[in-house]
Amino acid sequence: MTLKLIVACVALVALLATPARFVQAEELELEDDLEFDDDDEAMLRNIEAKHVSQDYEREDRMAKELASRIVAEHQAQAGYGGYPEEDQETYDAESAIGPDGQKRAPRLMDPCKGVRCGAGRVCSANTATQHAECICIPECPYESDPRRRVCTNQNETWDSACEVHRQRCLCNTNDPACRGEQVRHVHIDYYGTCRDMPECSENDLADFPRRMRDWLFNVMRDLASRNELPEPYMELEHEAETNMTKRWTNAAIWKWCDLDGHPHDNTVSRHELFPIRAPLVALEHCIAPFLESCDPNRDHRISLQEWGKCLQLDEDDLTARCAEITKDDEFEKNDIEAGA
Ligand SMILES: *[C@@H]1O[C@H](CO)[C@@H](O)[C@H](O)[C@H]1NC(C)=O
Ligand SMILES: *[C@@H]1O[C@H](CO)[C@@H](O)[C@H](O)[C@H]1NC(C)=O
Repeated sequence: MTLKLIVACVALVALLATPARFVQAEELELEDDLEFDDDDEAMLRNIEAKHVSQDYEREDRMAKELASRIVAEHQAQAGYGGYPEEDQETYDAESAIGPDGQKRAPRLMDPCKGVRCGAGRVCSANTATQHAECICIPECPYESDPRRRVCTNQNETWDSACEVHRQRCLCNTNDPACRGEQVRHVHIDYYGTCRDMPECSENDLADFPRRMRDWLFNVMRDLASRNELPEPYMELEHEAETNMTKRWTNAAIWKWCDLDGHPHDNTVSRHELFPIRAPLVALEHCIAPFLESCDPNRDHRISLQEWGKCLQLDEDDLTARCAEITKDDEFEKNDIEAGA
């Protein structure tokens, strides 16, 4: 392990860990020194990339909040004084009269409360019907940061993920602001500016399963140490910490179950690979061919057996375990959705 890498490690750990966890995490890093080699520098970059992609999610949420504010403002203007009297009880009585005694735009009860709209959409309260509907985000936040750019499946660089989702929404709702028919099927291929991908050499590809296993285990451990690993996976993580033979298997089970979330159908579709693929493509030119190799029968679905095989793991231990965990996990997810 190079000095540069040690510095990078400690800096990254310092960045990620809460103070209470710092000592523990540092010990773990030291314990791992023997297994580390120069390739792990790339792994660290990947962990960093994961955090960047969490930033994207946060920004996506902010974009939606911004958009719903714009929608609300438009409606407040459109609805100024325009409501029939008998509907008055649906307005917030206090806000109907301003502090200066002047009548202000009445504020609607929020029919959008608890409504979730898909990517590129935002909930809008239809003033005429008092119903919530999902509309295309009216405006994405201006992005000047090149790291927010995304490369589409049409190999076109767009300013942000929000723009892609918004355009797709506009085209699919036949909005005149749709830039063109070809945009209907646009999606994000990877985060970052479109570029010429270096070839993944045979040697790099041969080594990739090992790096992927390492990476999965490190990410799982990192999430657990920050209490961000969902409860059903904590036991997997604990076993992985204490039993070396279960390290890679359990990490593989965790990621596969985690990816098979939309929906839980015991198979990981291409679409479900997005969270692992999109942030890594620009950094890891072997991720795309690697994931191809996980789907040898080309049915666009990766079974747990295929996943284990392409990570070069013994598949005996994989199956039963995951079924039981995804079941638990499903309950938890439903709870969260019901509560939201
Ligand atoms: C995608 O676009 C980039 C940048 O314009 C270019 O270098 C690259 O060759 C393109 N890739 C493909 C597959 O066309
Ligand atoms: C570690 O896991 C392996 C594989 O499941 C198992 O055979 C072995 O008994 C475990 N070792 C310990 C110390 O629990």
